[in-house]
Amino acid sequence: MWTGSPLFPETASTMASRVDALYFFLVALSAFFSLLIAGLIVFYAIKFHRREADQVGARIHGGLVLEITWSVIPLFIVIGIFLWGASVFFAMSRPPDETHNIYVVGKQWMWKFQHLNGAREINELHVPVGRAVKLIMTSEDVIHDLFVPAFRVKADVLPGRYTHMWFEATKAGEYHLFCAEYCGTKHSGMIGRVVAMEPSDFETWLSSGQAEGSLASAGGKLFADLACNTCHRPDIQGRGPVLQNLFGRTVPLEGGGSAIVDEAYIRESIVDPQARITAGFQPTMPTYQGLVSEQGLLELIEYVKSIGTQPASPMMRPGAAAPGPGESTPARDGQAPGQR
Ligand code: CUA
Repeated sequence: MWTGSPLFPETASTMASRVDALYFFLVALSAFFSLLIAGLIVFYAIKFHRREADQVGARIHGGLVLEITWSVIPLFIVIGIFLWGASVFFAMSRPPDETHNIYVVGKQWMWKFQHLNGAREINELHVPVGRAVKLIMTSEDVIHDLFVPAFRVKADVLPGRYTHMWFEATKAGEYHLFCAEYCGTKHSGMIGRVVAMEPSDFETWLSSGQAEGSLASAGGKLFADLACNTCHRPDIQGRGPVLQNLFGRTVPLEGGGSAIVDEAYIRESIVDPQARITAGFQPTMPTYQGLVSEQGLLELIEYVKSIGTQPASPMMRPGAAAPGPGESTPARDGQAPGQR
């Protein structure tokens, strides 16, 4: 609509036009009522102005029809805005099942992006066009906020937590990327660019940057270096829960309740193992707070994902030893030594 105007960002994601439609509707609605009310004020001020010095205004006692009208019409308008806004909000907050995942770590004052195959970049994010991309984001220090105006997406990035954001770029090109939360003296310099590429170009770019090996394999190495594997063994003999096939499952907790094994739960289990212990296990695990960097945590999370059987996105490609999709039942855990 306003593409090309220096006042308005480009429309470059599937969500952008939906956000714009709602935005322009709100602007138009506000403009309509502002003009209507201001116009009527002027009109009536002139029409009913005092004509003689001792004139007294007429007494007016309510008009039921008028009052109901000016209550019910706005009611339907705001309910409509709510439903419209909620549908856009749900679409933005629920990524599709199949996404291309990229990790984001914000720190004073830069953005670090980490692709699953090991490619890393700073203040620059390469994404494929036409594919849903999910960013899994955290911060090393204070609250930041990742904002890509051309995609109409923005989300806070919090220390100690993972927040998510997803988008699907529709058009190859370069777009601005900002930090939208005041985070210290160089906040305004915490900017970068998103490079949306055609899928084939993106694959080429991605494979050129994986010299250091995949995130999951780095996590596997860290897992061994920290001796996690002495307790988290692939058979049920270990002192800690079996991690194979665990990601995405719901586990019962010691003391009642349950937890979904997602990124946040794995992170918490590493830095604060006592917080939510899987039922049937002793609180023997020490904390790794301060011993593992945010980067290391991401690697460990990817490792745990990779030894599960979540249907892999093409970028993940868990090792050939990982069991196939039909074999993900917990009963397989006992046979896990042969897996990896
Ligand atoms: Cu980071 Cu502002």
